[in-house]
Amino acid sequence: MSTAQKQWKVGVAGLGTVGSGLLKFLAERPDFAPAGGRVVVTGVSARSRSRARPVDISALTWFDDPVALATSPETDVFVELIGGSDGPAKAAVEAALKAGKPVVTANKALIAEHGAELAALAEAAGVPLLFEAAVMGGTPAVKMLREAMVGDDVDSVAGILNGTCNFILSEMESGGRAFGDVLAEAQRLGYAESDPTMDIGGFDAAHKITILAALAFGCAPNYAAAEIEGIEQVELLDIKLAKDLGYRIKLVASADRSPDGVAVRVHPSLAPLSHPLAQAGGALNALFIEGRRIGRIYIQGPGAGSGPTAAAVAADIADVMTGAIRPVFQAPAGKLKPFVAVDPSRRVSKAYIRLLVKDQPGVIAAVSETLAESGVSIDSFLQKPVEDAGGVPIVLTTHAIAESVLIDAINRMEKLPAVLERPRLLRIARI
Ligand code: HSE
Repeated sequence: MSTAQKQWKVGVAGLGTVGSGLLKFLAERPDFAPAGGRVVVTGVSARSRSRARPVDISALTWFDDPVALATSPETDVFVELIGGSDGPAKAAVEAALKAGKPVVTANKALIAEHGAELAALAEAAGVPLLFEAAVMGGTPAVKMLREAMVGDDVDSVAGILNGTCNFILSEMESGGRAFGDVLAEAQRLGYAESDPTMDIGGFDAAHKITILAALAFGCAPNYAAAEIEGIEQVELLDIKLAKDLGYRIKLVASADRSPDGVAVRVHPSLAPLSHPLAQAGGALNALFIEGRRIGRIYIQGPGAGSGPTAAAVAADIADVMTGAIRPVFQAPAGKLKPFVAVDPSRRVSKAYIRLLVKDQPGVIAAVSETLAESGVSIDSFLQKPVEDAGGVPIVLTTHAIAESVLIDAINRMEKLPAVLERPRLLRIARI
């Protein structure tokens, strides 16, 4: 009997941080997979062949076109690390699946925006489409929902899914620094992209929570239905005032299922200081999963970085090598439930409202009268002079109230003569 190990030929498209990390790992540990077999990278593709990289690619077959790599007879498994929801990444993944090649990707935008059609292609071809690295980098959220939670009914997932935003918010608080200042430093240090829009605008977290919602609830991913607000408007003043009230501001991504449908949201939200999400500082990612029978699960770990993310890609390659094939999401592509989005105006949450007012008699009475007229019930109230705030900040938290009522109250308060700018609304996380 031959003792030669089966060789798995892997084509890797995209040689940035994660791609280079993967090549390095596979060169050092080609026989890492528990099922046995040996992984050999046979071809690579990237935007620039000559760019300096931490790994030597001179011995690997170079492909200018990732589609050619994806469909090459020398590719058994296609690994897509190009990124982007469309363009070459989508073309190459589609080509690989149509050619009957298993695909492993770290591309959250692609899966969140085209997951259902790609799942249909993969399932028609009878090959796996795996994307553990797309959410929370090396921290295994995808496998947890896709595999470990199938014996339960998950009703909600919520957490911190963008390390860049978490880093910026943590630094603003610890250093008492403004958003723009910390962002510039994060870019200088290479933590934030030169175009940070996807991260700070909340879009990266929205892609990730869209994927988790599909896995958790067995519905087709529907990125277009996500409510998205980034951290660009978070002011140091609010970070300080929220802390005085016992909260920390985090960019919270959540997906909830109710009889009305599914709500997928990303908002800067207040978490109680003692809550694990408030404690997850720096660039950490964290996630709560709430199952009806299992109860609450909490995971926390790195959501980016070469080593952790490449480890997640490698774990997916190892899965391919077992030969197992599951539905890409929680049900076969043709049987995914339609995603019925809940009307955001009906959302009920507790809120933090911060006003900047002129320091004159009768202002607080006018504010509370306006809130009473709108039907908003106040939970706590704080007036705190802050140097250089340009007015007197008043902060209040509300009892749980419908979003439409809150917006009405904000609109009315904005019109009060003593109110200097549009009141700032932040939600208190339901965690
Ligand atoms: N840019 C992401 C983050 C990592 O800051 O969390 C990759 O998904």
